[in-house]
Amino acid sequence: MNEIDLKGKSGVVTGGAQGIGRAVTERLLRSGAAVAIWDRDAGLAGSAVRELADLGRVIAVTADVTAWDSIAAAAQETAAQLGGIDLLVNNAGIAGPNAPVETYPLEAWQQVIDIDLTGVFHCCRAVVPLMKAKGYGRIVNVASIAGKEGNPNASAYSAAKAGVIALTKALGKELAGIDIAVNCITPAAAKTAIFDQMTQTHIDYMLSKIPRARFVAVDEIAAMVAWLVSKENSFTTGAVFDLSGGRATY
Ligand SMILES: NC(=O)c1ccc[n+]([C@@H]2O[C@H](COP(=O)([O-])OP(=O)(O)OC[C@H]3O[C@@H](n4cnc5c(N)ncnc54)[C@H](O)[C@@H]3O)[C@@H](O)[C@H]2O)c1
Repeated sequence: MNEIDLKGKSGVVTGGAQGIGRAVTERLLRSGAAVAIWDRDAGLAGSAVRELADLGRVIAVTADVTAWDSIAAAAQETAAQLGGIDLLVNNAGIAGPNAPVETYPLEAWQQVIDIDLTGVFHCCRAVVPLMKAKGYGRIVNVASIAGKEGNPNASAYSAAKAGVIALTKALGKELAGIDIAVNCITPAAAKTAIFDQMTQTHIDYMLSKIPRARFVAVDEIAAMVAWLVSKENSFTTGAVFDLSGGRATY
């Protein structure tokens, strides 16, 4: 494991209670950062904090990224407990059901957009002022290869993730004059609890599209995020980092 120096930094990982977010939380802790897990699942987040506590300062803040008041309060609480927020990893997300557009459930469409896209907006909106006050920040938004390519039977997810890519580019430009980097990553499929929301046919489709012919490991995603939130990532902003195992052509 390469050593990334995040000593003295305070980070937030949304959806950090399990899966990719948990791997990112662990990697940031091992790199010396203090981390706040913002997750709507208080039980899972509490377990993660207990299991990771030996690695460094880690706290759980119960928060729902779809609710502005919840996120504004989480930002204040985290800044008070950890002395500000330097790093933000917008990772909380759901897949939603697999169905063609013509029968896609209306409420599921709204829920996927609310969590996967509006949630990222809420967290950036709450945390950017804290970063601006320090004149420093690193933001990584977890998009998906689906946001570049558009996966059939996953229209809400693909559209939300394409939105995250565009939001990353817009915010990166807004903040380019300050030492705040805003980037996103586009992973291929990783075997986590999110698979429970998908059909086996959809999982098989995603795997069939990966030239490396395997799922990406959550630790591989965490490794890229750890560098992206480091001070050394000092020039690139508003960019999309590929983690698709060769699928993406741009
Ligand atoms: N696993 C994959 O195949 C894959 C591929 C590309 C991108 N992604 C993205 O990576 C991110 C993490 O996915 P994962 O596979 O680890 O999923 P996961 O289901 O294992 O974990 C998601 C976490 O987000 C939390 N969460 C969900 N809605 C929330 C809300 N409204 N407010 C706060 N927390 C909320 C959940 O409680 C959970 O702890 C998601 O944005 C997902 O779209 C996943």
